[in-house]
Amino acid sequence: MNVLVIESNPKAISLLSSALRADFDAKVHVEKHGVPGTAFISENPMLDLVVVRNINASPSHNEEETAKMVLNYIYDNKLTCKVLVLGQFEAAGFEYSHLPERFKLSDFSTTVRKTLGLTLENLKELKLGDYVPIDIENFYVMNKAPCDTYIKLARSTGDQYVKRIHMGDEFDKEAIQKYESQGVKELYVPTEQKGHFLEAQLKQYLGSILDVSKPEPVLVELRSDAYDINKTLINNTGVTEQMILMSQASIKAMAQSVVQNKKLGGLLKNILNNKGSFAYKHSYLISVFSSAVMPKLEWSEKRQFEANVERITFAAFFHDILLTEEKHIRIRNKLDLYQAKLEDKEKDLVLEHAHNMATFIHEMKHAPNGAEQIIREHHGMRNGIGFAEVYTSSLGAMSIMFIVLEDFVSSLLDFKEKGLTIKDILDNMNETYQLPSYKKIIKALQEALTDSF
Ligand SMILES: [Fe+2]
Ligand SMILES: [Fe+2]
Repeated sequence: MNVLVIESNPKAISLLSSALRADFDAKVHVEKHGVPGTAFISENPMLDLVVVRNINASPSHNEEETAKMVLNYIYDNKLTCKVLVLGQFEAAGFEYSHLPERFKLSDFSTTVRKTLGLTLENLKELKLGDYVPIDIENFYVMNKAPCDTYIKLARSTGDQYVKRIHMGDEFDKEAIQKYESQGVKELYVPTEQKGHFLEAQLKQYLGSILDVSKPEPVLVELRSDAYDINKTLINNTGVTEQMILMSQASIKAMAQSVVQNKKLGGLLKNILNNKGSFAYKHSYLISVFSSAVMPKLEWSEKRQFEANVERITFAAFFHDILLTEEKHIRIRNKLDLYQAKLEDKEKDLVLEHAHNMATFIHEMKHAPNGAEQIIREHHGMRNGIGFAEVYTSSLGAMSIMFIVLEDFVSSLLDFKEKGLTIKDILDNMNETYQLPSYKKIIKALQEALTDSF
């Protein structure tokens, strides 16, 4: 089943998409505004349902009557797809279903089912088959199969599932990558085992990252894999229990390694030489340098040090997690954005990632105080949208530290390719940041670097 959701609120997008996937096994496509929404409708004649918010903030920051646009479009083009409008709305002469501004998710699913004319019986048939796919990268942080695991072969007679890993079998990342090199992107587990699988994944991951006998490079790679898994999770299903538990464990392990490892030089060498994604490395290094810099700043009290490291590590872990591609993470100002020549949708994603992630964090229980603000302000904008043209001192002290250190870390990660020395990087930064509150961080960073090399 194909569903288009036109909605600009990230939290709502996440909830609606998850419900549609879970309850209807639907393929969900999301647009934020009426124009790309109607374009998608015109390009996809097989669309079953459009879920549309009555009014959305339009790109030009005016309000847009999205639902009206969509209904008119469908009517004018004599299309058959069903429409469900969310929020206060009335339009005589059109056929559509409706839910008020606030509604229970269970009401949403019931309304969707009725709109589509499905009985509960139909729904069961629609629902997941006997096996559910698990992205293969999920197995990287595991070492033992909690249940029988299958690969899917597409045959003309229908899909066939072939058992490849037996329950209890041990494996390592290399073995999993062998499947990948043969083009396997997903492994399958029996549908009723999915919950058990996720539980086991978390347990095995926790067991590994807390295993102090494992050498640091192995731990770095493991945490990086977990970061990538969480990135996929949050982008596909939003904030889920599994994602929260797994990221909490990663953040704790990262913060601990930063606090325990007093030697900046050693940490740095480790991370620069080890396997791991750019996304993970740049997050981890922000945490590493924060812990080196904070003791040199007057606002950071000694007894709050560990709590501050955890706060920064949390922010570092999540700040760019909505950006799925490395090239998006590398965009740090308006010029970069312009030069990246992104499609409109990608551009929106980049412009709004700080705001959207801060919104997620706001909803997340147990997020450390202040992490939301750091994430929102990490590109110098107080509202989390866009990139600052000039950095101001109206941001939080920790946000300012985060901005300066992220800049440093980004340059550091490709200093080899660009042929820069640490001194060059610091000189450039001294030019970029003119305000005393920023210069202070650069100075503290300089001191920390001198101490450790
Ligand atoms: Fe970043
Ligand atoms: Fe960012």
